[in-house]
Amino acid sequence: MTITEGNVKGEPRHQRPDQRTPGQLAFLWLFTFRWHLLALFLSDLGRSVISRKYDAFTTDNGYSDEPVGDNPVTRAIDAVVRGRDTHIALRQRLDLVTEELVATTLSRRGSGPVRLVSGPVGLGRDLRGVWNRLERLGSRPVDWLEVTGIDLDASGTVLAEASRLARNAGIPLETYQQDMLDAEGLGRVIGGKVDVFNTIGLSTWLDQTGLEETLGAIRSTLAADGVLVVDHWRHHLGSKYVDALEVPARYISDEEFESTLTSCGYVIEDKRVTTNSVVVVYRARPD
Ligand SMILES: C[S@@+](CC[C@H](N)C(=O)[O-])C[C@H]1O[C@@H](n2cnc3c(N)ncnc32)[C@H](O)[C@@H]1O
Repeated sequence: MTITEGNVKGEPRHQRPDQRTPGQLAFLWLFTFRWHLLALFLSDLGRSVISRKYDAFTTDNGYSDEPVGDNPVTRAIDAVVRGRDTHIALRQRLDLVTEELVATTLSRRGSGPVRLVSGPVGLGRDLRGVWNRLERLGSRPVDWLEVTGIDLDASGTVLAEASRLARNAGIPLETYQQDMLDAEGLGRVIGGKVDVFNTIGLSTWLDQTGLEETLGAIRSTLAADGVLVVDHWRHHLGSKYVDALEVPARYISDEEFESTLTSCGYVIEDKRVTTNSVVVVYRARPD
């Protein structure tokens, strides 16, 4: 079920409001002699990044390492794009997050239903992975796990697709269209007492105020012994493309991210880093 009564007026943080169209970007790259970037138009994933930035659909596309293309040349270029450290990190992060959520939800099982909220949920691939792994472990998540997805869904297509994919996988996913930075709105749509809040793929698009607002908004929904799972992207080789692609990433150090978590009222319990050292996944609790 998709409920659209939340605050949908916020800004999609993974995009820049003044971003150029793909055609304008192509002209800019042509006339500034950055011709190597034009090869991105031949890659399925590259075109998605150019036109949609890292929205739910591009991110989900990047979770696959299988090259896509009509012919050997476009497939080869797509393989190169999928092999960039940013996209390897996406897939390694997915594994870390899935493992973390399986362990954390299982550890809370037994004391009534466990509430897992994912925001921004995107297409919910991590949730489907968690559900699937819990089923394979024989723990019948349908009996004890309540799953909710939050997303601003500025295009109006994300939550419908997340719901469709969840339904096909047999997951009773409840979804809300809501700005994650709006504490009051978030509280209104999901209330409190969330056991596990999964917030992946948003922090790097936020300025410092936005990061603090989001962490504060999530904290106000968590149960006293609730758990936050959050990612933090380090500056890496792929970061050199963010200006050319007009992707609004902001990179801070681990220390800055950790002190923001602490100042927003969390205690860090665990820190895991992708094998390629690009993404950190934290588990934290309200202090
Ligand atoms: C990089 S995708 C991450 C999706 C998913 N968590 C994943 O990692 O696969 C970014 C998502 O953030 C959502 N988003 C952007 N700004 C938002 C905001 N202010 N509030 C809630 N969601 C937002 C987008 O709609 C998109 O689904």
